[in-house]
Amino acid sequence: VDPGSQRLAIIGEAPGMEELRDDKPFVGPSGRILNGLLRTAGIERDMLFLGNIFPAKARDNDVTPWMKDAELSEKAFARLNADLEKFQPHIIVPMGDTALWGFLGGGSISAVRGNVAEATRIRPGAKILPTFHPQYVQKQWKDYVVVVGDLQKAWRQAAFPEIRWPKRELMVEPTFNEVLWWIDRCHKADLLSVD
Ligand code: URA
Repeated sequence: VDPGSQRLAIIGEAPGMEELRDDKPFVGPSGRILNGLLRTAGIERDMLFLGNIFPAKARDNDVTPWMKDAELSEKAFARLNADLEKFQPHIIVPMGDTALWGFLGGGSISAVRGNVAEATRIRPGAKILPTFHPQYVQKQWKDYVVVVGDLQKAWRQAAFPEIRWPKRELMVEPTFNEVLWWIDRCHKADLLSVD
């Protein structure tokens, strides 16, 4: 893959104190965890677009009143949309529930993380791959490796903008001969995974 063609955007929730001071996303405690995650995943931070759903720091870091304010949310979405339009990401990684809400209108991050989906609110139609927020990783260290895996998957997906759904073949009520053919095919496969 031509490294110049990788275009990955990572979106968080809202700036904290250090982000406001430096006017840069992810430079505080969450940013330091993100740096470690990116380093472990082999991704260079400088190549990425980093941003947040909301541009300001919420009181007590609680953005739920803003999420309920349709007008304020729309304004925040429009601003982020414009920034993403300039960067033209091939894939967007919403980190945590708030970012997921921004791109999909809701859902639980633990249920959807690691899967490629299509954005419906901010940048509708864009390819997204949600994962946990670094702040969550700080509390659930066992999920560090999960986020690293998600970021690596996102990095592979960052080489092209379209969603390439896996090709699936479904065999319903196979005959005996079809089962034999299938077993033979499994024996010859380079890679076989079973769920
Ligand atoms: N810093 C950010 O820039 N975004 C977050 O979501 C958290 C911390």
